[in-house]
Amino acid sequence: MSFWLHSSPIQPWLFSTRRLSRRRVSRPAPRVLTLSMHSSFATCSTRQTALIIGATGQVGQHLLRELLASSHFTRVTEAGRRVTPANKLPSAATSKLEQVVIDFENTEGLKQILSKEKQDVVFITLGTKAKLAGSPANFEKIDREYVVNAAKAARSTDPEHRQRIVYCSSGMSNPSSSALYIRSKGLTEKALADLGYSDCIIFNPGMLQNLHRDYSHTLETILSRIASFLSYFTWRLGIDVDALAKSMRIAGEFGTGALPFVAEASEKSWGGATFTTVGNRGAVRLSREPL
Ligand SMILES: NC(=O)c1ccc[n+]([C@@H]2O[C@H](COP(=O)([O-])OP(=O)(O)OC[C@H]3O[C@@H](n4cnc5c(N)ncnc54)[C@H](OP(=O)(O)O)[C@@H]3O)[C@@H](O)[C@H]2O)c1
Repeated sequence: MSFWLHSSPIQPWLFSTRRLSRRRVSRPAPRVLTLSMHSSFATCSTRQTALIIGATGQVGQHLLRELLASSHFTRVTEAGRRVTPANKLPSAATSKLEQVVIDFENTEGLKQILSKEKQDVVFITLGTKAKLAGSPANFEKIDREYVVNAAKAARSTDPEHRQRIVYCSSGMSNPSSSALYIRSKGLTEKALADLGYSDCIIFNPGMLQNLHRDYSHTLETILSRIASFLSYFTWRLGIDVDALAKSMRIAGEFGTGALPFVAEASEKSWGGATFTTVGNRGAVRLSREPL
């Protein structure tokens, strides 16, 4: 396997926004990976531990399976207001799983529980909808405060411990927007980037496809079907939840410095700390890599 060595974890040429036709990318994927020379951050060769918050959700369910199946992660902790029932867990690899029920309202308790284990990679797929939250204030509390508080609680106090965070945000996120949903996502990204993780990777997917919810959400179902149809023509609008989960797992394993160029990762900053973003098309393409 060949690597391109470079001195900075993010090289501008890596993030070219060149349009690549479907025909072009369906050829055998070039095995070009990047490796940060100066980063001591563990990449795919080192075994790591993972924490997932939001594992009972649509993306989270698939991500939990990905993490359990990955030989890269020696230990996986699932934390949430409820945890995945045993009959929904894959029979193999559950020996490395730890499940913890947490109360997101209790920030002290959150800290005690989430900082107990030294987590190398923190994955967050927690989120809600304004309709489910009941009010804009409650939406922001769950969608942003819970996410940021959990990420803060899982942040190691050991300066030698390099940690990565991988968060599932949304396309069009913007902290200055007047629209509640995308503003909350943008503010969450900003807050996560400010937490000082060694590597912060944020996914900005379009409409999620192949959802199997216990409740019906008419608008989401309609938009998801439209995005699913349009996916035949463009990879920018929607992504299957299992594909997104796979891409998040790969990003967690490889990190910014070694992400395959097909991810089309780019560097972003919302006024302060910088972070890495992977858009819908990059996530679709990354999920097709044999990794
Ligand atoms: N729907 C889309 O098309 C779309 C598009 C782009 C981005 N996104 C974003 O992608 C992320 C993942 O989406 P998803 O569809 O996988 O989400 P989801 O199925 O709604 O799952 C959300 C997760 O958050 C947890 N959660 C929700 N409300 C909570 C609360 N009050 N307290 C504690 N935990 C709570 C859920 O736990 P429980 O299982 O206990 O409820 C679940 O684990 C979300 O942030 C979403 O906004 C969605």
